[in-house]
Amino acid sequence: MFRDMSTRTKYLLEESQMPKAWYNLQADLPVPLPPVLHPGTMQPVGPDDLAPLFPMSLIQQEVTTEREIDIPEPVQDIYKLWRPAPLYRAHRLEKVLGTPAKIFYKYEGVSPAGSHKPNTAIPQAFYNQQAGVKRLTTETGAGQWGTSLSFAGNLFGLEVLVFQVRVSYDQKPYRRAVMETYGARCVASPSMETVYGRSVLAEHPNHPGSLGIAISEAVELAAQRDDTKYALGSVLNHVLLHQTVIGLEAMEQMQMADAWPDVVVGCTGGGSNFAGIAFPFIGHGLRGGQKSRIVAVEPAACPSLTRGKYAYDFGDTGHMTPLSKMHTLGSTFTPPGFHAGGLRYHGMAPLVSHAKELGLMEAVAYTQGECFAAGVTFARAEGIVPAPESNHAVKGAIEEALRCKREGKSENILFCLSGHGHFDMVSYQKYFAGELTDESYNEQELAMALASLPSVPAQG
Ligand SMILES: Cc1ncc(COP(=O)(O)O)c(C=O)c1O
Repeated sequence: MFRDMSTRTKYLLEESQMPKAWYNLQADLPVPLPPVLHPGTMQPVGPDDLAPLFPMSLIQQEVTTEREIDIPEPVQDIYKLWRPAPLYRAHRLEKVLGTPAKIFYKYEGVSPAGSHKPNTAIPQAFYNQQAGVKRLTTETGAGQWGTSLSFAGNLFGLEVLVFQVRVSYDQKPYRRAVMETYGARCVASPSMETVYGRSVLAEHPNHPGSLGIAISEAVELAAQRDDTKYALGSVLNHVLLHQTVIGLEAMEQMQMADAWPDVVVGCTGGGSNFAGIAFPFIGHGLRGGQKSRIVAVEPAACPSLTRGKYAYDFGDTGHMTPLSKMHTLGSTFTPPGFHAGGLRYHGMAPLVSHAKELGLMEAVAYTQGECFAAGVTFARAEGIVPAPESNHAVKGAIEEALRCKREGKSENILFCLSGHGHFDMVSYQKYFAGELTDESYNEQELAMALASLPSVPAQG
């Protein structure tokens, strides 16, 4: 029987078709990634410098230039709880927009935590357990990452302590309940549990928190105990590597749909779901395959890629991490308390920043109001209520589809729907009540944060 592929909605892979290896963009880069520097010596960091925070297997993944890294079998087994994730054709959204474009979305909200974050939480917990670690500390913005590490830690018998950014701790109380259901402990950051947290609260008792501060708190505790390591939910090379299962599966599924993407869109906080969907396609283009346009969408209130400087900076506000070359708004910059908590980070993943500098991708920024409007349009057409972070990708994809309409082009648009918004309904309620203001960042504070970037001798 012939089936009309143009009416098909879901493109599904069998468990046996799940990727067996992650894809490492570092293998195909025309120019290598600038080194990570020790802030004291300004020399490239070695594995021993990172050993107090991460197990050696993850440190190796941070620096390797091998193209394929095998996914350990215990990780593959757990991935099967929700992977391969579905790829959808957004027929109804296309109709609402009246676009000749074909819109596809890779849906990562089917994971137990409701987002792409378990794709890296599971391997991070696995490698830590293998290294004999007993306890993990971490930060979380929206609560998605904290939930994912709590889930993963429990599966591998690890204790998990999560510092949740104060503003989203207050906005999303049920996220904490989920973390506790998985057996983790979750505290609001800045907290009284660390020297750094106490110093921030002494100066600003009502500080809304930021990812940069929560990272400092988690790193401080991990550095103090041999049985404790730190896990990061985005930004680092190994995190982006683990997320490439998204794009690798999507490549197979777009081939099933006979629709290689002209444009690939993802939202960027620290850059991990974006890298996950985009890097396999960028690599394909770099190896001589068909090239796709790659578009990152970030919040206008925290625009590291479009307004930040490409410079060496700390990954955290308390300056406990090494220095990475990335697009940054300055490590002391506190973004306004907008509702896409997972996008409130001052920096961008060094690999994503490097790809942008090399002209391998583009970036755009939208306000939260525009993104919520796009999310509501999407929910009414397709049924899924996106996470506020994912709304940025939805907005980016809709803009591309409307461009195709203006230009009369029938392009294939692929975007990553990184998570559902079921724990973010207070934000939607505020949006409907007209209470979500498009607060801009403070220009003066940004200028100050950029002026205090560390001065680093020229590299190379
Ligand atoms: C659903 C969702 N999408 C996107 C992000 C942004 O993170 P990243 O840029 O690392 O994908 C987050 C972060 O918390 C998230 O929860």
